[in-house]
Amino acid sequence: PFVVTESCIKCKYTDCVNVCPMECFVEGPNFMVIDPAECIDCSVCVPECPVGAIVNANEIPEEQAAFVEINAQLAKDPSWKQITRSRSPLADHEAWVGVPGKLAHLQL
Ligand code: SF4
Ligand code: F3S
Repeated sequence: PFVVTESCIKCKYTDCVNVCPMECFVEGPNFMVIDPAECIDCSVCVPECPVGAIVNANEIPEEQAAFVEINAQLAKDPSWKQITRSRSPLADHEAWVGVPGKLAHLQL
């Protein structure tokens, strides 16, 4: 499957959700994940993300490897909800683009 990585945290642009043919995206307060049980590896979501947060699990950079499991777990979290239509990014999105260590800011 494809995986949403750290760049999304505190930005959540949501452009990705409009194009997914399987409606794989599941949303939390300041992050988005892909449900690996639904993703068909079509890759059309990848270029939609303005911060390049979506990668193939098979090609994920070492330092982002934890996000494979994070996506799988949060996709099943009952408080996280499927999202199929984009909306505005988070209020401080510009300030958080490319900031390292955003995993510490992930809200559940
Ligand atoms: Fe959806 Fe395709 Fe992206 Fe998987 S790779 S999340 S199926 S758009
Ligand atoms: Fe996140 Fe990029 Fe989608 S920032 S919400 S993965 S468009």
